[in-house]
Amino acid sequence: MCGIVGYVGNGAVSDILLGGLKNLEYRGYDSAGIALNDNGKIDIFKAPGKLGNLYAEVEGKKLPASGGIGHIRWATHGKATADNAHPHLSNDGRLALVHNGIIENYKSLREELEKDGYTFYSETDTEAAVHLFEREYKKCGSLEQAVVAGVKYLKGAFAFCIMHDSEPDKIVAVRQNAPLVVGLGKEENYIASDIPAIVGKVQRIICLNDGEIAVVTRKDVKIYDFTGKEIERQPEYIGFNPEVISKRGYPHFMLKEINEQPGIVRHLLQDAYADGGEIPCLPKVNAGAAAKAERIEIIACGTSLHAAAVAGFVFEEWLKIPVSVVAASEYIYRRPLTNEKTLVIGISQSGETADTITAVKKAKETGAHILVLTNREDSSIVRYADSLLPLKAGIEVSVAATKSYTAQLTCLYLLGLMLAGHRQSLPAEELKKLRAELQHLPSKMENVLAESAKIKDCVEKLKNYRQMIYIARGINLATAMEGALKLKEISYVNANGYPAGELKHGPIALLDENMPVLAVLTPGSRIYDKMISNCEEAKARHAFLAGVTFDNDTEADRLFDLLLTVPAVAEEFSPLILNLPLQLLAYYVAAALGREVDQPRNLAKSVTVE
Ligand code: F6R
Repeated sequence: MCGIVGYVGNGAVSDILLGGLKNLEYRGYDSAGIALNDNGKIDIFKAPGKLGNLYAEVEGKKLPASGGIGHIRWATHGKATADNAHPHLSNDGRLALVHNGIIENYKSLREELEKDGYTFYSETDTEAAVHLFEREYKKCGSLEQAVVAGVKYLKGAFAFCIMHDSEPDKIVAVRQNAPLVVGLGKEENYIASDIPAIVGKVQRIICLNDGEIAVVTRKDVKIYDFTGKEIERQPEYIGFNPEVISKRGYPHFMLKEINEQPGIVRHLLQDAYADGGEIPCLPKVNAGAAAKAERIEIIACGTSLHAAAVAGFVFEEWLKIPVSVVAASEYIYRRPLTNEKTLVIGISQSGETADTITAVKKAKETGAHILVLTNREDSSIVRYADSLLPLKAGIEVSVAATKSYTAQLTCLYLLGLMLAGHRQSLPAEELKKLRAELQHLPSKMENVLAESAKIKDCVEKLKNYRQMIYIARGINLATAMEGALKLKEISYVNANGYPAGELKHGPIALLDENMPVLAVLTPGSRIYDKMISNCEEAKARHAFLAGVTFDNDTEADRLFDLLLTVPAVAEEFSPLILNLPLQLLAYYVAAALGREVDQPRNLAKSVTVE
């Protein structure tokens, strides 16, 4: 939700800022802007819409500067217009800032500042902050002191980069409930919402904590708390290589990330079973504490919530304790029965999803053991974790989650098997069998991806429908929901997932030749025959019938208008493989419709607002 960057040094400031924003585009693309400090004069360039519009705006201009700040916006307060685009400038034109987050008390601040004579030019919450810091600057004449004085008035979430024309070599960065990292270079320093913006530029970073202010100049970086007291922070070495944010020849990040999935599963399995035992070893999970739980709650949003739903299903089977799966945004407003005997699992690819963080925080207050699954060990959610399960999927650039979902499923299977081993809720023989089944998954997934051309060919039959229903039962209901979400978010086809048995309770009224139905099938399972009956019901209403099933399915061929098959696997693990054709289908439909696959409209990768 918005990305911010800052730079001070001898490099080409505008190019560095624009390059940084390019790598943060997954955080928002409603507008973009930069402010450059050219020897005591602040120049601002901004443009509504995608970053390309800002590139066009600055093209061919000579832009000398010793420092600057930049922003890419996901609109919360105010439309995606140039006036609402960041950076925002103070009334005296001397102080500029960029902001990620929401200033919750902006209305009262605005009234107060308007009474003090300040004029507002935008509808944003952010503009209150820029005038506030100007007011404080006028009292003390120092940017860092003005920031220390100003943050006391602010409520909500904010990461800022702030600069003043009198100090062209300085940026003050602030973090409170929104991520911010400082990159340490030689005679140059960087600030960014996330590491991809500075990957390849610096080796060392400092991830700011909430309540910290960094005063960044070309020569050094000093960190203070909100009272202005200096804090000692040791830099860490950056763990990413620039290659992770390249498309490696694929037309879109999404297709590249889909193809990375078998390798991710293989590595996770290798790591977890490295000791040769039958029980997975997950070093950052406190197995003793987690296995003692009498019930489990899993909290997540979106695609992560679908991974949670699969886990809910298998955990109850394997651990024989109640498991509830709750959307984080709902959990926050419920009175759940969470207590010290509950294991609460928070799942978040980004680790920055505000709903999930708030829910996990709330659960922690009840004394529950908190286990976090995230792809970003440097993210905000980690600070609430008693146990950690890193997804190790590598940076996911495409806004639509694919490889992180597969990594979530794999880690949840491993967790379930580990807990079952500790609780002795599954016989040793069963654990051994499940382990052997899991080991076959990566090569079977590779077989599906190797045949992706077949799926591409099917797209012609589906791409002209504007709506679609996905159905499944049991463990693959989550697969159907995830498949529908993927199609919907990147192609804008109105795709919805339903439990197949629910069709007759309402959605069946929608069926006719204009409403294709896609069924996710698991031959050999106890729900298979019921699924086939539900598909017959859809066919009888003239729906175009598509299916995803195992290659040993003998029944489906006669019924379906379009059938995609994958190698057969154990039912428990089928979501891992049945999901692949659905991801590819969504991808190829969106690509065929000419959609911006990696950056679907209105979405952002990290949803840092509630
Ligand atoms: C869908 C998608 C979103 C995210 C959701 C949660 O493709 O990416 O639905 O899954 O916003 O994000 P995380 O996992 O980062 O908490």
